[in-house]
Order: sequence, then structure tokens, then C-alpha cells
Amino acid sequence: MRFDIITVLPSLLDSPFAHSILQRAQKKGLSEIHVHNLRDYTSNKQRSVDDYPYGGGSGMVMQIEPFATCIEKLQSERTYDEIIYMTPDGETLNQSIANDLSTRGNMIILCGHYKGIDQRIRDIFVTREISIGDYVLSGGELPAAILVDAIIRLIPGVLSDETSALSDSFQDGLLDAPIYTRPAEWRGHKVPDILLSGNEAKINAWRDDQQLQRTQERRPDLLGDNEQ
Ligand code: ADE
Repeated sequence: MRFDIITVLPSLLDSPFAHSILQRAQKKGLSEIHVHNLRDYTSNKQRSVDDYPYGGGSGMVMQIEPFATCIEKLQSERTYDEIIYMTPDGETLNQSIANDLSTRGNMIILCGHYKGIDQRIRDIFVTREISIGDYVLSGGELPAAILVDAIIRLIPGVLSDETSALSDSFQDGLLDAPIYTRPAEWRGHKVPDILLSGNEAKINAWRDDQQLQRTQERRPDLLGDNEQ
């Protein structure tokens, strides 16, 4: 799976993909991440990528031409399944969107800045618009990193224990059960006896129950969705 991320701040994306699982996925050849500097696709001397909004108003708008030139160059080299624009007014990212995207091939991700991008880029090129939550960040780079992380960890072979992605919170529509490691007692705080019992069936039943309880307490909306 290949990601091409288009941004005015490529260096902001140096670190998120250079560690741990995401780095391993690239080393194993399971995913490729290419970051493109939007300014390399400008035709003006100043390498500017934005302009004043038609109709007035505050803030600058990212222009069509640099994005179009970069997207069309990439499309001339390979086909893409999705062109995603990271934006607070997109559909809110959740596990099912990540699952869905993890089955795709190549993706282009556009990162906006300033007031946003010219609507015509969205109308003409973008196939999907994704938000990472109801708050506004300074740009789409961190949201893009979050999206790519959520997708890559689902690619078969990326996690050493494949079942661990399946047991993540949200995969079954429930939050995870509490987890513990040694010591069995710390400052008088004990690990629940059941986890030390060695009885796998009882442990699984306890975990199922805890998942349900935690979801009821913290995210009852998830249970509502399950019943629909
Ligand atoms: N760009 C700025 N804020 C964002 C958000 N919440 N989600 C996705 N992209 C964004």
C-alpha cells in the first residue's frame, strides 16, 4: 500500500513515520510513504501556494494549480484508489473507516493550511474528506499522520501478532478491557484475582464483561450503534 502525502510542511512528517510499527511496515515492504512538497509544484518565483479569497474575508486560500500539477503527475505514474483531503468538515475518522481504507491500494492525501483549499480541488480531484475530530488544527499534516497510522497497523503482517489489531478497542464495537502486568500487587493495589487464576474461559468471560461495562460507562453511543 502506497501513500503519497502532499504538504507545504514536509519536514513535519519526518518523524511520525520513522519509528516503531510504521517504520517496520516500510522496511518490510508492506507500505510506502512518500511526502511531496507542494511548493515544488508551483510556477511562480516566490513558490507561493496561496492567494486571497474571492468575495473577501479573512485568511488565505490554497490555490488549485500546485495541487493539480502534483496530483496529475502522480496519477500519470500509477493509479490511485482514493484522493483524501484532511479537513475538519470531513467525515469523522473511526475504526470502520480505517478498516475500509486498509483494504485499498494507493492513496493520495492532501494537507490543507490557512483557510483551506480552493473548493474546486475538492470537487474535481478529492474522493473522500476525513476529519480526525471536532476541533481545528493548524494544518492537515498531523491528521494525515494519524490516518496513515490507523490504516498501516491493519495491513496483514505489519503487527507481529496479527490478532492484536483485531483485539484493539473499537474493532468489535467495544472498548478494551483493563490490562495489567507484573507486579501482582503494587502499594496495596492488586491485579484482579481472576487474571491470576490460569482459567482461560473464566478470564475471557471476565474480559468480555469488562469490555461491555467500560463501554456502557464511557461510550454508550457505541452500544447504540451496535443495535442499529
Ligand atoms: N485540519 C485541521 N483540523 C483538522 C481536523 N480536525 N481533521 C482533519 N484535518 C484537519
